[in-house]
Amino acid sequence: MKPFARAFITGASSGLGREIALQLASEGTEVVLTARREGLLRELAEDIEAAGGRARVEVLDVADSDRVIEVVREWDERVGGFDLVLANAGVGAAAHVSELKWNDIERVLSVNVRGALATLYAATGPMLKRGTGTLAGMSSLASMRGMPTSGAYSASKAALSTYLETLRVDVRRSGVKVVDIRPGYVHTPMTAGADRPLPFVIDAQDAARRSVRGLKRGQAVVAYPRRVAWMTRAMTLLPSAVWDRVAERMVRK
Ligand SMILES: NC(=O)c1ccc[n+]([C@@H]2O[C@H](COP(=O)([O-])OP(=O)(O)OC[C@H]3O[C@@H](n4cnc5c(N)ncnc54)[C@H](OP(=O)(O)O)[C@@H]3O)[C@@H](O)[C@H]2O)c1
Repeated sequence: MKPFARAFITGASSGLGREIALQLASEGTEVVLTARREGLLRELAEDIEAAGGRARVEVLDVADSDRVIEVVREWDERVGGFDLVLANAGVGAAAHVSELKWNDIERVLSVNVRGALATLYAATGPMLKRGTGTLAGMSSLASMRGMPTSGAYSASKAALSTYLETLRVDVRRSGVKVVDIRPGYVHTPMTAGADRPLPFVIDAQDAARRSVRGLKRGQAVVAYPRRVAWMTRAMTLLPSAVWDRVAERMVRK
């Protein structure tokens, strides 16, 4: 499988985005690292360059979708065209609906949906013109059913996966590939404060390896760990009355 030449990654300052950037860079990919925390991005770029790789840094808040579109297009021209753009930045908001603040819902939608779709939208035109490239989004297995106490998060990932599915069909004959990555639980700062066990959790390096393999294959959907992905697929077949009882048990203390 051929490595990517030039990749743009949002949410590269920590967790999955950081690990994916490290793995891509170790294979020779020039990576453009973006997120809000500049210090972490610069440290990562230094680590990559110290190991002989190439990395550039751009501070970017994906909630500002106009800026996202400008930044993706500017960098695409500067580096000579991305062959991978990964909309990875994401936030969670796990709380019972009675405790959820509207601001939390808005933040999830503006980062996970508007930010991700703006990233993909900006990269689509240039890739279509070149007739090559991979557009990818970091969704989640939580996109497949409304997870209890994670309504905004599940809804945001369902929106992203649905967008990616349409995009895949729209660009089907163009030479551009679309990859929807759907991890289960991964040990990252996002899950570090979880107040309940995380079944079948895997580490971020392992998740990055599975993601990079799926990206290089141009796989339509990269869902892992495999066993959990199958269980989640099976759960989509449950009638609502059964699902409601199963879901309720997932969060009962
Ligand atoms: N961990 C899991 O179990 C799991 C499972 C399935 C899917 N995912 C998805 O994987 C992706 C990465 O999450 P993670 O687990 O690696 O969590 P993480 O370590 O908290 O990383 C989240 C990344 O998103 C960036 N980000 C957040 N808000 C942003 C904004 N407004 N603008 C730009 N960047 C922003 C953060 O950077 P800054 O704070 O520096 O901006 C950080 O780099 C997310 O889309 C998440 O939904 C995670």
